[in-house]
This record gives sequence, C-alpha cells and structure tokens, in this order.
Amino acid sequence: MSQRISIHGQWSSRLMFILAATGSAVGLGNIWRFPYITGENGGGAFVLAYLICLAIVGIPIMMAEVLIGRRGRQSPVFSLQALAVEAGGNKAWRWVGWAGMLAGLIILSYYSVIAGWTLAYVVRIASGSLVRVTAEGASSIFAQLVIDPERLLAWHTIFMVMTIKVVSRGVKRGLEQAVKILMPLLFAMLLVLVIYAWRQGDFVQAYLFMFDSDFSKLTPSALLVALGHAFFTLSVGLGAMMVYGAYMPSGLSIAKTSILVGLLDTVVGLLAGLAIFSIVFAHDMAVGEGPGLIFQTLPIVFGQMPGGSFFGTLFFLLLVFAAWTSAIALIEPMVSWIVEKREIDRIRAAIWTGIVAWLLGIVTILSFSSWSFSFRFGGELKRHGLFDVLDILTSSIILPLGGLCIALFVGWVMSRESVVDEMGGRSGIDFKLWYFVVRFITPVAVVLVFLQAIGVV
Ligand code: PHE
Ligand code: NA
Repeated sequence: MSQRISIHGQWSSRLMFILAATGSAVGLGNIWRFPYITGENGGGAFVLAYLICLAIVGIPIMMAEVLIGRRGRQSPVFSLQALAVEAGGNKAWRWVGWAGMLAGLIILSYYSVIAGWTLAYVVRIASGSLVRVTAEGASSIFAQLVIDPERLLAWHTIFMVMTIKVVSRGVKRGLEQAVKILMPLLFAMLLVLVIYAWRQGDFVQAYLFMFDSDFSKLTPSALLVALGHAFFTLSVGLGAMMVYGAYMPSGLSIAKTSILVGLLDTVVGLLAGLAIFSIVFAHDMAVGEGPGLIFQTLPIVFGQMPGGSFFGTLFFLLLVFAAWTSAIALIEPMVSWIVEKREIDRIRAAIWTGIVAWLLGIVTILSFSSWSFSFRFGGELKRHGLFDVLDILTSSIILPLGGLCIALFVGWVMSRESVVDEMGGRSGIDFKLWYFVVRFITPVAVVLVFLQAIGVV
C-alpha cells in the first residue's frame, strides 16, 4: 500500500476537510449554472430529476471518489493506478484520471471567464452604476459586457492569476483560511436574498416553477443535463473530490462528511434558484435567458434594495470567492499529478496548467461575441457556440462517464475488504445500502440516461 499521508500535505482537521470540500462544491455551479439550466429546461420536473440524480448517483459517487483518494493518497491518476494494481486489475484505470484532468482544465477555462463576469459586476455595483436599473437596462448592460472581449480577457486573467496563486502555495495554506470565513457569509447573504425575494418578488410563482413537476415536459436531453449538473455541482466525476480525499486525515467518516457536503451544496443551489426566479417572474423576464440569467436579474434587486450597492457588492464578491475555492479544486488534480510525475515544483506546475486553461478560456470569451454560432444538441437549441460545446463535452459526457468508471472501480475492481476498511471498518446496513447503490444502481442509472439521451431506449 502507498504512503499514509500524501506528499502534498493533509487537511488540518475534520472541519477543514468539510470546508474545503464544500468550498469546492459550492460555486458558480450553484448560483450561476443551476438557475439558468433550470430555466432552460422548464423547471419542476428538471429540478426533481436533478435531486434524484444527486441522491442515487452524485452523493454515492462522491463517497467512492473520496475513498479512492484517501486510500491511494496520491493524485487521481496514480491513486487509481496503485489501487488497480493492488487489486490485481488493469493499470488502464488511470485513464479515468487523465480524462478527469482534461475535464478539469476545460471547465476551469470557462469557469474563469464567468468568474471574470462576476468580478466585473463587483465593480459595477460598487460604483453605483446599477442603482434603480430596470429589467431592460440590466439586460443591455450585460449584453454590452459580453461583446467586449478585451475587458473580459482582463477579468479572466485576473481570476486565473488568483487561482494560480493559491494553488501554488499549496491547497492547505492557501485555502483553509479563506474558506472558513467566506462560506458562512455567502450562505447568510443568500438567505438575505431569499427573504427579500420572498417579500418583494414573485416567490410563489418561483416556487411553483421549481417544484411543481410535470414529467411529461422532461425531455431526454434535459435528463442528461440534470445528471450532468449533479456531477458538476458536487465536483465529482473528474477526480477533484478524489484529490481532496487524498489530503483527508484517516479516521474521518467518508460517508458523513460527503453527505453533509452534498446537502449544503444542494441547499445553496435551491436557495439561489428561488431567489432568482422570484425576480424573473416579478419582472416578466424570460426564464430561458441562458448563462446571463443571474447577471440580468440580481442587479435589479440590488438596485432597489435599501443598501443595495453594499449588499450587491458583497454578494458578487462572495460569489467570486466561491468560484475561487472551486477553481482550485478544478486545477488540483492536474497540478498534483505533474508534481508527482515530473518532480517539478508546485509553483511551476500551477503556472503552466493555469496558462493552458487561460488560453483555452479565450474560446469562451469569443463564443459570446465574434465566434458565436448556434447548433442543436439532443433537440435543444444551443446558442453560444464553442462554449456550449465545451460545456456539453465536460458536464454531459466526461463527468458522467468518469463517474460511471469510478462507481465500477469501487464496486467491482477494489476488494470488498479494502472498501469496508476505508469506510470505517464496519459493514452495517448503511454500508451495505451504499455499496449496493454504487455497484448496481449508479452504473445502471448513468447508462440508462445516456442511452435515452441518444435515443436508444
Ligand atoms: N462544483 C463546482 C460548482 O458547482 C464546480 C466544480 C466542478 C469544481 C468540478 C470542481 C470540480 O461551481
Ligand atoms: Na456546486
């Protein structure tokens, strides 16, 4: 068996693991992505499908991923390889790690661009230029931003430098301090928003839109989007939770911490959705606005709220921090692998990986301006060219397939004894239930969603 502590260090406590994992999970996925894809996919049934995917696929896989990482104590590629060899399996399992690193790089590339939009809004709201903005005003301000590639490039660059900075200091020293204060604050701000939306916006309609499920409206491709988002939002399927697991002290319960992180992430997404749709309906805006949704809605609310410039600035700032703690998790699988493999230092590894993601980010910047084109995927119209291609490739394809492989690996390749051992040594009813889900339910669910998305079943 490999070493008991990874060469990259270890989280200093149970709380720190929870904060780091929550920091990785809670991000733009919850506040930016979840509301807009819910809008695009018709609400209700989509949200329910997503919650089911979280329960039977996302959270069980999160546990499997943390388990692989903690047992392997290395980067995802090497942990998978070592555990495969130990179990008498094929070294080719490390390919799952490579695919995950690629997905992390691609997601980071556009994640950083969207985080750049968020930074731009911090400045706009702070300067008071969005006070009393109308729905039309907010939409046109957003439209002007995304057709300004130079400005977006500047913000994208700033965010990528921030990410490289923390990762090169080592995840632990860089991250633990920030997360401890900022995550609870973000949560509090969201509550303020929901309360405000509940009193001023169309909360009832938002609630009905999100929770009144009509399954006849659920298209096969929407189901795949729901599954993909379950992976995206929990940071699973690409090795991010695996590498965080590699830094997790032995003796902590993988099951309890994963479930807690999954629940926190879900609550944040649902709250964000409720707040945003309350605003959408109160102002007769279109639910299917796409990636601009939060940037077109939230400024209206902050523009009206007493103290809105202050709260708005704070909110977008916290969102930048949430994105930051997620970006770190996106890049860490690759950085840890380069450090182990090439024996170059972490600083260089972080800089090079960051530069590649930065370059690729330019594709996304241009997708919203000069390179924009539309195409159909699974019957849905995609309007943002290569950005949509990158998004579909990662969240709808690589993450679910990566997750499938992870479930199969823990369920069928690793020995039951080592899985039981890593899960705390007892195989009680809760263990048996999870193990059954990972071996049978999760793989079957992922395969079925795929088959129906491509029209086979
Ligand atoms: N879970 C993050 C979010 O919801 C995104 C992410 C995906 C981070 C994969 C790390 C790994 O914003
Ligand atoms: Na998330």
